[in-house]
Amino acid sequence: MNVNRIRDGIKISSVGNHILCVEQCSSTNDLAWKESEEGAPHGTVIFAEGQSSGRGRRGRSWVSLPGSSLLCSVLLRPRIALQRLPLVTALGALAVTDLAQRFGIEARVRFPNDVYVGRNKLAGILAESRFSSSESGAIVVGIGVNVTGFPSDLPSTSLTEECGEVVDREEAARHLIESIDQWVSHLDGPVEPFQKAWQSRSDLIGNRVVIRQEGEVFPGTVLDVHCLEGVRLQLEEGGEKLFRGEFIEKLDLL
Ligand code: BTN
Repeated sequence: MNVNRIRDGIKISSVGNHILCVEQCSSTNDLAWKESEEGAPHGTVIFAEGQSSGRGRRGRSWVSLPGSSLLCSVLLRPRIALQRLPLVTALGALAVTDLAQRFGIEARVRFPNDVYVGRNKLAGILAESRFSSSESGAIVVGIGVNVTGFPSDLPSTSLTEECGEVVDREEAARHLIESIDQWVSHLDGPVEPFQKAWQSRSDLIGNRVVIRQEGEVFPGTVLDVHCLEGVRLQLEEGGEKLFRGEFIEKLDLL
């Protein structure tokens, strides 16, 4: 991808002032951490055509077909309290739903870190943080979006598949950065805009799911999803239980 084409007409304030595109790396998150150690500024965005060890949540790997996705990491240095960290994963997922919307696609967020169109996965988010004090640290938000293709072994989809026209990755990258920039500007403000969007774009509320956590399996119906607190389930065995994103091993729709 070409940085100048991504930048063409871009409207941003803090995210995307420094963009880097590489052909290949282990993981764009690794590269973002390397840039961070070398003093890269807040809002630095890195794209790669391919990754040799792309990673997902809980040590899973993230496999993509080279040149077919947005493999992107954004370095943030926000002054937010540690308890607000889940908002960063939320903003990545919300930005992908905004991006999909630009191409006329209704994508939904699946707590804690995925974006789906129907039953097929469009994107995944992996936020990592390194804090030196309770309010000062760096965060890398890694986002993988299927744009023109995806590996065929999982129920997945792409922007191109959903909108029926080949989506230009540089245009998609520009829209994604613009949307991340918007959400980042709300990070230190009230949680309500996140929560409102998170709830109205959730594909879980009212649906039957099964959650795997600490070796146990919890089937139930989703009562509510909160971008900071987690997902509240009406358990099939009776009673309610709140599951926090960081402890959920797997969440599947039934
Ligand atoms: C998941 O589904 O568990 C999250 C997947 C996140 C994948 C993206 S691709 C760009 C960035 N670099 C990585 O190694 N992972 C994220």
